[in-house]
Amino acid sequence: MTNIRAFFRNTLILVALFIPSVFLSPNFCKFNIKVKQTLKNEGFHRNITYGIIFNTENDERWLYDGCLVGLTQKLPAGVFANPDELSDLRRNKKLNAALKNPVNVELPTEVSTPNNVYITGKVVDGRVNLWLPVHARYHQAVAGGGSARNEIGPPRLFLACPDKRLDLCNLNDTPIVFLCNGSSREKCKWKQLSYTMLTDTLIWDVPVGNTDHYYVVAIGTAFVIIIGSLYLLKAIHDCKVSLKKKSS
Ligand SMILES: *[C@@H]1O[C@H](CO)[C@@H](O)[C@H](O)[C@H]1NC(C)=O
Ligand SMILES: *[C@@H]1O[C@H](CO)[C@@H](O)[C@H](O)[C@H]1NC(C)=O
Repeated sequence: MTNIRAFFRNTLILVALFIPSVFLSPNFCKFNIKVKQTLKNEGFHRNITYGIIFNTENDERWLYDGCLVGLTQKLPAGVFANPDELSDLRRNKKLNAALKNPVNVELPTEVSTPNNVYITGKVVDGRVNLWLPVHARYHQAVAGGGSARNEIGPPRLFLACPDKRLDLCNLNDTPIVFLCNGSSREKCKWKQLSYTMLTDTLIWDVPVGNTDHYYVVAIGTAFVIIIGSLYLLKAIHDCKVSLKKKSS
């Protein structure tokens, strides 16, 4: 009788030890995240959009629904996000994005540095759609003109949940403590996650002014001014001559 009891007790202990190890195994939290990044519109003012899709199976939804996604997007020196525009969008609750470092929107590309933008949004029904208004900087004109290429790489993706559910996932890295969003000083614990990128690096070519054209324009302008002045002098002279004739 005691042997049977001991057997059951040991079995229970084994089961009790076994169950958490199933939940804690790294494979249990199967994040299957896909991201589409696109560049919309034409010209110097554009819109980067991010379509982020989490696992499509319903039984995996408990992992991320209600959690926050944070993207950090590095922008090259030739591209910037306008801090005033972002703060308007935050105030109007249209988009929660903020710059990680101060940015001077007036500098040309040559004297600017890359910048990081931080965008957050809530996971609803397994997906998040985010976007970011961006602007191209002017380049200093060069002989021959042409165009300059900006490449915008994929963002880094983080997840923060209102509870401790991500702790079950055994994600090896320690969480990053950073702002929950751009409109509050409150901090969240973010875990960086890898994802599958469905689109290529964004390419944005901007036209560069041609200094050769400036010389043509400058010489042309000088020429017009000289001809105009000579014409004016001649007209004044003729006028004086005719006045003299009349008075004499
Ligand atoms: C950028 O694109 C998103 C998604 O299509 C849209 O909701 C947003 O209004 C656009 N923003 C601008 C500034 O065009
Ligand atoms: C920003 O984060 C704070 C703190 O978590 C939260 O109270 C607030 O609702 C968030 N704002 C937005 C727009 O998500």
